[in-house]
Amino acid sequence: MQNFQYYAPTQVVFGTDTVEQVGSLVRQQNCKKVLIHYGGGSAKRSGLLDRVAKSLEEAGIDYIMLGGVVPNPRLSLVYEGITLCKQEGVDFILAVGGGSVIDSSKAIGYGIANDCDVWDFYAKRAVPQACAPIGTILTIAAAGSEMSNSSVITNEDGWLKRGLSSELCRCKFAIMDPTLTYTLPAYQTASGAADIMMHTMERYFTPVETLPLTDALAEGLIRSVMSDVKTALADPQDYDSHAGLMWASSLSHNGLTGCGTDGGDWASHQLEHELGGKYDIAHGAGLCAVWSSWARTVMPANPARFAKFAVNVMGITPGANDTETANRGIDAMEAFFQSIGMPTRINQMGIDLTEDDMRELAHKCSFMNTRKIGKFVQLDREAIYEIYQKAKA
Ligand code: NZQ
Ligand code: ZN
Repeated sequence: MQNFQYYAPTQVVFGTDTVEQVGSLVRQQNCKKVLIHYGGGSAKRSGLLDRVAKSLEEAGIDYIMLGGVVPNPRLSLVYEGITLCKQEGVDFILAVGGGSVIDSSKAIGYGIANDCDVWDFYAKRAVPQACAPIGTILTIAAAGSEMSNSSVITNEDGWLKRGLSSELCRCKFAIMDPTLTYTLPAYQTASGAADIMMHTMERYFTPVETLPLTDALAEGLIRSVMSDVKTALADPQDYDSHAGLMWASSLSHNGLTGCGTDGGDWASHQLEHELGGKYDIAHGAGLCAVWSSWARTVMPANPARFAKFAVNVMGITPGANDTETANRGIDAMEAFFQSIGMPTRINQMGIDLTEDDMRELAHKCSFMNTRKIGKFVQLDREAIYEIYQKAKA
């Protein structure tokens, strides 16, 4: 195993009726004015925004609102948020929503606290020096942004979806009431669960020797999510399964399942980000559409690792050798994704990739042929293209 640092500074307030604590949690931040940032309408329709506003008013906190965040959150709304926050003297951002709203909030937070174009950070032309404080009320178990150091923004100019990691943006607090996720469409519940699994799998498939405790946590987390998502889909008001998914969302992306490893592979995420930027798909679904093509490509580099995953996570009886066991595990994961309504090929999302599309995606994913992605196996532009080709249909 490798030396590691584990930093998870977010205060988690978990359970039913925790939303009403938001006023006092924000007051502890000693801020003057809050931006309540939210998405396309689910938080309004459910009455959540009214509850949040009431709690802030009772705590005597001044606030303004900005909605309209879409999945694969856009840079243009981030710019609008930065301008608004500067005009209004906002010094705390409250993200009410999922990964897209939290990420948009993080980007606005960077924009308020630094004197340059915020896109420069995502384009890796500059490094942020500060971020305005952020808190969140989570409404979907998925991206893990509520405890992660990441944010992902899409620039409409070129449809580039780019991530940025920095400890500066970690949420001060995260209110997690599983009942808020009861209103999710089944597709979003499944897509979110897939994303949670993938955050752990990205860290699990690493070329370095791992810590057995970390492996056990990762394997248990994935098994638990696989079980919980089935229950949650069958009964959209089952508390325990929604609670399991929500807590797993945070634990899968707050670094816990990477302790002692090298940070993980992340190639599947990079492959998905290009698809998400260009075709505006649900992130978890996009991951499912590319994962097995990635897995079959890289598995020969270390069949034993995939065989361990097959046995410990997918419950596969070991075959004649590691390669056989590994392949059965990949097949079983594909079948699982299909069983929760997720695609396992790109065309199943209504996208018919042409030769030019795949070349363009591979070019952008390799940052115009200047980087390789992944660690389990490093993939250059040609290798990326070949995975898109495998995953196409
Ligand atoms: O906008 P509204 O109306 O709220 O609808 C949303 C949206 O359409 C809906 N929704 C959310 N909560 C709901 C609800 N509908 C009914 N009831 C509720 N309680 O669900 C849809 C998806 O929401 P979104 O926030 O986009 O989902 P998710 O949390 O999956 O976030 C996806 C984004 O996060 C990025 C992804 O790339 C994608 O852009 N990621 C962020 C990461 C991070 N910051 O650490 C890591 C991830 O790997 C990921 O890349
Ligand atoms: Zn993800």
